[in-house]
Amino acid sequence: MDVGLLGTGHYAPENVLTNADLEKMVDTSDEWITSRTGIEERRIATDDIDTSDMAYYAAKDALEEANVSAEDIDLILVSTVTPDTPFPSVSCMLQERLGATKAAAMDVSAACAGFMYGVVTGQQFIQTGVYKHVLVIGVEKLSKITDWSDRNTCVLFGDGAGAAVMGEVSEGKGILSFELGANGSGGEHLYQNDKNHLIMNGREVFKFAVRQMPDSAVKVIEESGYKKEDIDYLIPHQANIRIMEAARQRLGISEDKMATSIKKYGNNSSASIPMALSEAVKNGKIEDGDLIVMVGFGAGLTWGAIALRWGR
Ligand code: UT7
Repeated sequence: MDVGLLGTGHYAPENVLTNADLEKMVDTSDEWITSRTGIEERRIATDDIDTSDMAYYAAKDALEEANVSAEDIDLILVSTVTPDTPFPSVSCMLQERLGATKAAAMDVSAACAGFMYGVVTGQQFIQTGVYKHVLVIGVEKLSKITDWSDRNTCVLFGDGAGAAVMGEVSEGKGILSFELGANGSGGEHLYQNDKNHLIMNGREVFKFAVRQMPDSAVKVIEESGYKKEDIDYLIPHQANIRIMEAARQRLGISEDKMATSIKKYGNNSSASIPMALSEAVKNGKIEDGDLIVMVGFGAGLTWGAIALRWGR
């Protein structure tokens, strides 16, 4: 059975935080942020919008796009490192709010690679015939674990959500291959401290990402029986435009074939890839039959890549 994405959706909070705003908060400059990261602005959810609210809006969008009703969802997988509460899970909150009464529900913790882990997990349940429809969401309210006095991190992150409804697709479409990986020895480079703040050794994560992203992308594309030049659209984790550009250049694909939502959203951790994917579909950048590669990396350290043929 071929398993793919039947519909995608996303939600970005309205409240915009620009680089000029950050210049007033910490010792930084628009020039430093844009040249070192590619980020021009990011969205920050207001106090009345928590992680589960953003997940809900993205999920509703994806269900509508997929033309699948909430009652037909068998499993909800929410990837997040910023849940409303450690328990109950965001996926359970969502199950209730969506009215997905028959769905099992659990959260997945794999940081920025979490959406990749979620989609691959969903694929296993559908391919084995256990479930028919799986709803996967990547959502983060990173603003609540950001140290707003730390210029090394506070300029990088933003809030948002992306979602996909998974199910059976026609032969030759859907997920062609995947790679998931982890290296716990790198956990010290990106973690949450006892004040609940996100702490990062940017240089170490940068070195890891520049190597891992293109390696994983090449691996899944070759395992699918294709070559780098066959890629129609690349959706890398939106962490830093320099990391994304290094991957794009190693894959030898043109600028217009890579998602760059980082400019307006910053780094949304596990929401980055599904937000960029949903936007690309809505903007007509991804069309039926396109060969797509999604690739992410993050705290753990974790990574994941998926090659898929777009369409139902
Ligand atoms: O999704 C999670 C995964 N995370 C990532 O992928 C992040 C990966 N890392 C990065 O994207 C980059 O390492 C950063 C954007 C975080 C930093 O860029 P960098 O080119 O590696 O800069 P750096 O850490 O080497 O710092 C260079 C200088 C330092 O000053 P000195 O020591 O050279 O005097 C920093 O203190 O830039 C300084 N700096 C800043 N200056 C202005 C650091 N942050 C800022 C800032 N504004 N916001």
